[in-house]
Amino acid sequence: MAAPTRFPTWVLGYPSDLSVAPGESVDFHVSGAGADEVEVQLVKLIHGDTQRAGPGFHEIEVPSRVDGTYPLSEQETHHGSYARIAGMSALLPPAGAALSLFAMVRAAGSERAQPLMTIWDAATETGVALVLEPGLRLALWTSAGDGSARVTLGDGLWAEVWYAVCGTWDPTTGRISVRAVPVVNSYNSRFGPVAIPPSRGAEAAASSWTAPPAVDLLLGAFDAADGRIVRGAYDGKISLPSVYARALTQEDVLALAGSGAAPAVQEGLLAWWDLSRGIEASWVAGGTSASPDGELVNMPTRAVTAHNWDGSCYEWSHAPQQYGAVHFHVDDVDDVGWNAMCTLDVTPDFASGVYALRLRAGGFEDHTPFFVRAAPGREKKVALVLPTGSYLAYANEHLATAAPMGQAIVGHTPSLQPMDLLLMEHPELGLSMYELHADGSGVSLSSRRRPILNMRPRHRFSFMGTWQFPSDLYIVDWLEHGGYDYDVLTDEDVHRDGPEALRPYRAVMTGSHPEYASERMLDAYEAYVAGGGKVMYMGGNGFYWVISYSPEKPWVMEVRRGENGVRAWQAGPGETTHSTTGEKGGLWRDRGRAPQKLFGTGFTSEGYGGSFHYHRMPDADLPAVTWIFAGVDSDDPIGDFGLVGGGAAGQEIDRADVTLGTPPQTHLLACAQNQDDSYKVVPEEIEFMFDGVGGTEHPNVRADVTYYETLAGGAVFATSSIAWSGSLSHNGYDNNVSRITGNVLDRFIGERR
Ligand SMILES: [Fe+2]
Repeated sequence: MAAPTRFPTWVLGYPSDLSVAPGESVDFHVSGAGADEVEVQLVKLIHGDTQRAGPGFHEIEVPSRVDGTYPLSEQETHHGSYARIAGMSALLPPAGAALSLFAMVRAAGSERAQPLMTIWDAATETGVALVLEPGLRLALWTSAGDGSARVTLGDGLWAEVWYAVCGTWDPTTGRISVRAVPVVNSYNSRFGPVAIPPSRGAEAAASSWTAPPAVDLLLGAFDAADGRIVRGAYDGKISLPSVYARALTQEDVLALAGSGAAPAVQEGLLAWWDLSRGIEASWVAGGTSASPDGELVNMPTRAVTAHNWDGSCYEWSHAPQQYGAVHFHVDDVDDVGWNAMCTLDVTPDFASGVYALRLRAGGFEDHTPFFVRAAPGREKKVALVLPTGSYLAYANEHLATAAPMGQAIVGHTPSLQPMDLLLMEHPELGLSMYELHADGSGVSLSSRRRPILNMRPRHRFSFMGTWQFPSDLYIVDWLEHGGYDYDVLTDEDVHRDGPEALRPYRAVMTGSHPEYASERMLDAYEAYVAGGGKVMYMGGNGFYWVISYSPEKPWVMEVRRGENGVRAWQAGPGETTHSTTGEKGGLWRDRGRAPQKLFGTGFTSEGYGGSFHYHRMPDADLPAVTWIFAGVDSDDPIGDFGLVGGGAAGQEIDRADVTLGTPPQTHLLACAQNQDDSYKVVPEEIEFMFDGVGGTEHPNVRADVTYYETLAGGAVFATSSIAWSGSLSHNGYDNNVSRITGNVLDRFIGERR
């Protein structure tokens, strides 16, 4: 019986690009159900949070040629990764053949058959397929001409153990067989050489073999000759896939199990694929000139250890021959593949800002946000850099409902939004980098070519308050209210254009939680400040994780969570190096670039019991910085109000620390050190376990407001709290958080208000 659906009517969209310049165009991909039509209106977004204490939801309709009514239909979503190699079925000889590869499955739980290597038409159920049947029992299916046969091992494979597996058919004997030989060294599997599972084999009679159907050879999926969308259906790793033009004996399979980076059995080898080549891209390289190249679909994970990884190297770029494996997931998402419904030409006169396509269908409303940057040469005074890298990391997060640690971190009942429930009904829209794939491995790749349901103006964070995009709209709203001349940029713009993206601006403001940064982004900010630029770090836990963008697919972002930091998962041994760039993943502080070195402060604590307020510190009275507090009563607490947890210092907070690189000339202007024990010191600073790491006891649980200048005239002001932006609009924007923010921005752009 189908589960009752809570949302019979819905409509969702995504733009072809998040950042668009005047003169460019952007496509909108839309799908929905429960209504025949969708009403489209272009809007500019100002403020999202609907709490009554704040300015409320604020959008401005912008007449455009995309406005109107369009037919609505539900589109199929592409997901599940696999590899496709064309042209193999024609090569298979009638006189017997074998499929072999190395496989390691991460979890034992699948209730369905998982395809390893197939030349199989799912529409007619004909062909040949090496599969794992439920219980991880290796099987070979053959079906062609006048008969079909299947042979299945009686025992399942062990999870997290590498095996050489082979399926072979021999028309001369009328037999088909499967074999699985464990390939265990001291490093490559969950268990070591003292606990090696037994080898297994089975065989059965088969009728005569005729040519397989004209479908492609797939790794991790079954093909469909009738044009149906193919979806990856295997959770696990595959290395050294090979096809032989003869039946393989038991001795052959034992010899194959000793293979390194190439098949150890050459006799009758028809084709094989070297997955250690092209790791940065989606290319599947033939191992010989007779082996047709292929491609990976839906972004499986590369740069993962293979069957022959021996612990001698921990970075794939130094020993790619030990990284010739691909980790496929049924819930990998690259580009969901919806058709474009309409195209917006962003005309040269378009103002920079946060925009959205508002979609309304049958009482359901969605906003599909996108960002228009300034035309070159027409930049205004201020740039607000929206942290789209962090939006991608959190894209479609299910922390409260799916992450085992989610509710424990919150310490209270999470609140779910309608969009959270809709997301639970549509798991095909993919996971965030805070979750695990179905097989328990961490999500290291995230794509923006899908609807991102928490990157919506009204969304609220299940833990507390708002998070990311709606929090950054607090800053947009404050800039609009203050009448500032500002443009918006995105992380992708800064990554692509480097320092040139920031150079035109007198001041650059970050978003409220710019946690994820590429090396090019850090280089751009560093060059900007060192060259005299002025930055307002408007958030908390910024510039913390290393990210990279796929050079081949710039809409895909990668993170490898390493052995340190507040992390939702940890990459496997030897798998902390990015596949897309070959650089070391993990925390920037573990690469020698703690956020303190540039922004003055860096992540120190997080908590969700509420937000707190700051008090002035002695540096605030130094003549060089008193202008920051102009109009602020020196006795008043700073930010004991706000839309996020009732204070300006909350959610994730940062501290200055000269030992981590805070520039020695930095002034400590204010400090919030009154947190409760829902706030704990970050784990990268805890070497021994002991009590007293909560906010009521530990001196490092605090948020520091800092300011420094460089000799070349650069300057950085840091708020050190995600919640800061939620206090800007309090009391009709007349409050000390707003005043301090305005004093700094006015000084930076050379204006007096
Ligand atoms: Fe975060």
